[in-house]
Amino acid sequence: MTENIEKFIAEFAHSLHENTFVKMTLGNYRGNDAHLQKLLIRLVETKKGTRLFFLFRQDTRDTAKNFDFTEGVAKVKEFLVADFFSGHLFTLENDLQLDVGKRGKSRLNIAKATFKTKPEVSHDREKQFLVNSNSFYLKALGITTDRGEIRDKQQDKWRQINKFVETLGSLIDKSLLADRRELNVVDMGSGKGYLTFAAYDYFKNTRGIGVKIIGVDTKSELVSIDNDIARASEFEDLKFVHGWIGNYNLQNVDVLIALHACNTATDDAIFKGIKAEADLIVVAPCCHQEIRPQMKAPDFMKGIFRHGVMLEREAETLTDGLRALLLEKSGYSTKLFEFISTEHTPKNNMIVGTRTTKNVDTEKIAEQIEAIKNFYGIKEQRLESLLEKF
Ligand SMILES: C[S@@+](CC[C@H](N)C(=O)[O-])C[C@H]1O[C@@H](n2cnc3c(N)ncnc32)[C@H](O)[C@@H]1O
Repeated sequence: MTENIEKFIAEFAHSLHENTFVKMTLGNYRGNDAHLQKLLIRLVETKKGTRLFFLFRQDTRDTAKNFDFTEGVAKVKEFLVADFFSGHLFTLENDLQLDVGKRGKSRLNIAKATFKTKPEVSHDREKQFLVNSNSFYLKALGITTDRGEIRDKQQDKWRQINKFVETLGSLIDKSLLADRRELNVVDMGSGKGYLTFAAYDYFKNTRGIGVKIIGVDTKSELVSIDNDIARASEFEDLKFVHGWIGNYNLQNVDVLIALHACNTATDDAIFKGIKAEADLIVVAPCCHQEIRPQMKAPDFMKGIFRHGVMLEREAETLTDGLRALLLEKSGYSTKLFEFISTEHTPKNNMIVGTRTTKNVDTEKIAEQIEAIKNFYGIKEQRLESLLEKF
């Protein structure tokens, strides 16, 4: 072991002893595990006391293990001698950057400490989030502070971002796209881009998939800000374009996303996805305004639908239910579920269409759609009209 590695390890042990350790990253992995990329180490509070939390970042998933200080120091020593060829140690006293060359020659750079105070130590009972809270884009979008802490007012948004990424990952794993190493994604109505950035970061940097994402929105100022943040984050395959969903020339898309695109913009997005034969269509509708004014309650339902709130809920149920049936009629299997609890956002229904090779009884579905429309006196539903003309 070279003098520099010894010094790096000694500083690590010293920082744990003096309670000045902040975090450590080991990179430049050259070991035998084809999937391992990085090791991230921080402190965690457990029932047995403070422990070192090792997060092994792999191309498709992360695994974690806790070690006591003595074991943890021994592990890092073992890793630096054999597997990882760079280390970055942050303490309250210094930042240490270790680089080991191919022939064992090493360099140790010691700089002024970046961190003036220790971050709060999380508890191992706490949920470990998929999205890396230290990412630049989260700071630029105002979700985190400069120190990578989630702002109090952004806690709900943070949970929503994580839940969305987790949901999308699992939907892809269960779709025809499961083994794809390259994905083309279009996010229609990307808005401020929170979810678009998080999806890109997760697929590109956590899963190591060659993902290309385009966000489309009518608000040119948001498009311009998001492109600046994407450039600054060096997310070269994430682009935002100014445009209307209905006019967007969607081609070559694997995953079509439209989250909280207003009213019938969701129908336009689903239609574009079906037309472009996207393998996965993921939408979270909002502001269901089309069906409600058309609805005529049958006599025996009038006592219920005279209450505006009941009519509104029924209109939402019908709109999203019809959308799911229309997706099925177009060759998709569907799921409709609450993707995050209403405590975090009221706009939480998600409709997912996964392209299927199974035969579908389109006539039977068309009959169901017709029966529902007749029962409620619905004349027009946008997605249906678009599909009829297609
Ligand atoms: C409520 S925001 C949602 C943003 C983001 N998808 C999210 O869930 O955080 C809705 C966005 O959709 C955009 N939008 C609405 N209708 C659109 C359309 N027809 N074409 C493109 N963008 C649209 C709006 O400009 C707005 O930025």
